[in-house]
Amino acid sequence: MEFLDLPQLLSAAGTVRLPGSKSISNRVLLLAALADGETEVRDLLASDDTERMLDALQALGIGVTHLGGENWKIVGCGGAFPVKQAELFLGNAGTAFRPLTAALALAGGDYVLKGVARMHERPIGDLVDGLRQLGADVSYLGNEGYPPLHLKPATIRPDGVVSVRGDVSSQFLTGLLMALPLTGQTVAVDVVGELISKPYIEITLATMARFGVVVERDGWQRFTVRAGSRYVSPGTVYVEGDASSASYFLALGAIGGGPVRVEGVGRDSIQGDVKFAEALAQMGAIIETGPNWMTACAPQGGLIAVDLDCNHIPDAAMTLATAALFAKGTTTLRNIASWRVKETDRIAAMATELRKIGAVVEEGADFIKITPSTARPAAIDTYDDHRMAMCFSLAAFATPLRINDPKCVAKTFPDYFERFATVTRAAPVIAIDGPSASGKGSVAARVAAALGFAYLDSGALYRLTALAAQRAGIAWDDEAGVAAIAAGLDVVFTGEDIRLAGVLVGDAIRTEDISAGASKVAALPAVREALLFRQRVFNTLPGLVGDGRDMGSVIFPRAVLKVFLTATAEARAERRYKQLIEKGFSANLPDLLADLQQRDARDSQRSVAPLRQEADARLLETTQLTIEQAVKQVLDWYSEASS
Ligand code: DC
Repeated sequence: MEFLDLPQLLSAAGTVRLPGSKSISNRVLLLAALADGETEVRDLLASDDTERMLDALQALGIGVTHLGGENWKIVGCGGAFPVKQAELFLGNAGTAFRPLTAALALAGGDYVLKGVARMHERPIGDLVDGLRQLGADVSYLGNEGYPPLHLKPATIRPDGVVSVRGDVSSQFLTGLLMALPLTGQTVAVDVVGELISKPYIEITLATMARFGVVVERDGWQRFTVRAGSRYVSPGTVYVEGDASSASYFLALGAIGGGPVRVEGVGRDSIQGDVKFAEALAQMGAIIETGPNWMTACAPQGGLIAVDLDCNHIPDAAMTLATAALFAKGTTTLRNIASWRVKETDRIAAMATELRKIGAVVEEGADFIKITPSTARPAAIDTYDDHRMAMCFSLAAFATPLRINDPKCVAKTFPDYFERFATVTRAAPVIAIDGPSASGKGSVAARVAAALGFAYLDSGALYRLTALAAQRAGIAWDDEAGVAAIAAGLDVVFTGEDIRLAGVLVGDAIRTEDISAGASKVAALPAVREALLFRQRVFNTLPGLVGDGRDMGSVIFPRAVLKVFLTATAEARAERRYKQLIEKGFSANLPDLLADLQQRDARDSQRSVAPLRQEADARLLETTQLTIEQAVKQVLDWYSEASS
């Protein structure tokens, strides 16, 4: 399982040029394919969902040419797909599956439409019922009411009225409307039940109009497409930035200070999700909008909870659910039943994952209530749902966390986390490494105290693992066994005190025996892997000083300052000698020196996390320095690095 570990975030500011809108991209592609003439589509979203649509159109014989960047040329077929028989795989792309079902059912060919397992759990019966009223021949290949589907040529009835439910997914109505010009007849669609997600219908109507088909409408009840309506290419179409994607960055600005500016959508957008900005403003965020940009800043005193009907912004409302973690009070998002039939059951998924990080959550058939509480680190599951991954990135302002399967964002925003990194600043880390007895632990602890930062003695974690394994009767070379111990280590650090399973550890981890055990278990890759997240959760505000072997390379590669602290073996042996004598132990200087030299050689040669100065680490040679001087040098470097 791939994962991405996020440190606790300090602030957010910057500008993001948004990727193209998923909803507009897939509508434009289909209409360009159905139209007379060639269409140049600019700023198309590059993502899984649009790829599924492009692949499907190509399989149907449509001329598709990549012009470079985000620009494509589509050669329209004038309403008649050249390929009359095909099996199409549409992944989990609802915006490809529903409209293609409608278009192909009326296109006079023999087609099979399939998707991933989750797609086969997402209802489509209401759309199929509507198509059947027109005379279309659609059958279910699996469960009644769900994909996969088999579409066969059929005689379309003249001058019909079709009823379609509007209260499960607005994509049924969208699919039907976009396909109706293929009938060549006048057809009216009556919406049964309260139409949800109306802004998405607005996008459909606006896109159809761009391709020359004007839908007559009677409120949100009846939509009529007249006989003789034909799609005609407008030549060039620019796809707006994705308003749902904008929601994450606006929320970042509202939580993390800002200003965060998104470019590609704004006041003039045809996407309903721009209304997300108003919801955020109700939570107190300071929002500014221009024709094709928006900015968000945090209010003084922080965000406040809201109680909102989110029917008009179903996708962006998910972003409010994680923004609620930073709002005073209980946030209630209502009228969101459609969440349950999306990429996953989003109400259930959101509730489960929010609870993992400590929030108090109540869920119902069509609402969710969120009350923030003390946050704790957790590994967040994303359910193959891009929006779960993107929403939970905001939670990193509350706690460090792990996002499982972060690449699921590819559905609509493949480089989301790269953009996220460019507009956020994490709690700072100073990573200090160096050979045995170099004094790195003492220097690190003092630097942490001087800055008011947390201190992570990563060596102690390996020592604790060795101790816990010994106590559990697990041999130090039993990699899987020790890794399981490391993963389940019940350890609490408070200042200098370390408790293992509730009991103070004291010097029990400093014995020669445990030192040898620590060195052994630290060489096991599975153990290092098991301790990875445990170390990264120390990356909290206001900051962290970590000492240990791979602090600046594997654990905190983005540390603001990396120090390699060393001294000659002779100087180190002398320091250790003094320490031991002071503690009342007997010691022998030549033995200590020989021991250190051997350990240096072993540590630099081992294949797992060898001792070495990383290329981006600053060398601090302390042979001639007092500990105070070494601490001062690190502090000076830090203030240089963070200014
Ligand atoms: O720093 P220390 O002596 O307490 O470390 C104990 C052991 O763990 C030692 O063998 C080095 C190893 N170690 C490691 O491999 N990686 C770390 N980040 C810290 C310690």
